[in-house]
Amino acid sequence: MTVEDLRTGPWSAEPWSFPTSGESRFTWEYDVERQRLLNLYQKGKDKQWDAQSRIDWDLPLDEDNPLGMPVEIVPIVGIPEFEKRLSEPGELTRVRRALQCMQISQFLHGEQGAMITAARIVESVPDIDSKFYAATQTMDEARHCETFDKLLRDKMGMEPLPITRPLAELLQQTLTDSRWDMPYLGMQVLIEGLALAAFGGLRDHSTDPLVRQVVAYVMQDEARHVAFGRMALKDAYADLTTAERDEREEFVVEACYLMRDRFRSVEVWEELGYDVQQVLDLTERAAAVKLFRNRLFTRIVPCIKDIGLWGDRVKAAYADMGVLDFAAANLDGLMADDERTADDLDAARFDARQREVEDTIALGAG
Ligand SMILES: [Fe+2]
Ligand SMILES: [Fe+2]
Repeated sequence: MTVEDLRTGPWSAEPWSFPTSGESRFTWEYDVERQRLLNLYQKGKDKQWDAQSRIDWDLPLDEDNPLGMPVEIVPIVGIPEFEKRLSEPGELTRVRRALQCMQISQFLHGEQGAMITAARIVESVPDIDSKFYAATQTMDEARHCETFDKLLRDKMGMEPLPITRPLAELLQQTLTDSRWDMPYLGMQVLIEGLALAAFGGLRDHSTDPLVRQVVAYVMQDEARHVAFGRMALKDAYADLTTAERDEREEFVVEACYLMRDRFRSVEVWEELGYDVQQVLDLTERAAAVKLFRNRLFTRIVPCIKDIGLWGDRVKAAYADMGVLDFAAANLDGLMADDERTADDLDAARFDARQREVEDTIALGAG
């Protein structure tokens, strides 16, 4: 992969718009049959939260490393060719802050894309139960947008960087297709799978309590979104013709390679004045890059198998990427885990607040 292949240019900072095709669908069948989807809708309503009050926004962030991530996550760390430059005063901080700003900016734009896609699903999906669920998801994604914006601008003190070309392309492809299932496949399965992997990296490795709250709570919602895409598509894909199945499998394979190979923060290295080709070549096998790529597929592969897009082309692509084994992963278990992590965090914070109150009372009594 060369820099030219990856050059994403600045995507325009102007407001972005493009025409879409497809239909707005009404249904007069209010009789909902799919209890599982209704359960998910109920859960979506029960688990609504307010980003302003659930998160401890007063917690300060480390200015040099706002996301509280271990140094090994910077892909050029530990590579001899970059050692000298990285040892210059302030250089590691400069690199870290730029990479972290890039990451949260893409989360922010991705969340806006998710909000727009969920609204589109409300409009185009044929069944009322799916419309109900997607309506709750639209609200979830608005909250995620609000949350990452607050994290980036208020807490990290940074302005969002433009959306990268690969992410913009994936979003546009997902939204312009006239077939109603494509926003599900592109957003609910692929982009959400990618997001869960990236959020999981932060949740499990960040030492910063505020950042961990943000991603744990967002992930609790995202796990539901993936479950929704999975249920709806599994039903719909049972009746596909061979030709229809082939088209979707081709889209999945292309999108997976795109996500694996092209999300490399090229703009950041360029902006920082590094030799981008050298960075790409030397970090190709870096532990941080490997870790991200592996994580990326933990949610996507089992889901693709589950919804039945499991033909030879897809299996061959995953074998080529070395991720075929993830097909056996337990998606329900992973989702339950995401839920539990967020709830545990709530419980721990509640206990800490209780203790604080008791200490204050004790102090007053003393
Ligand atoms: Fe989201
Ligand atoms: Fe989502």
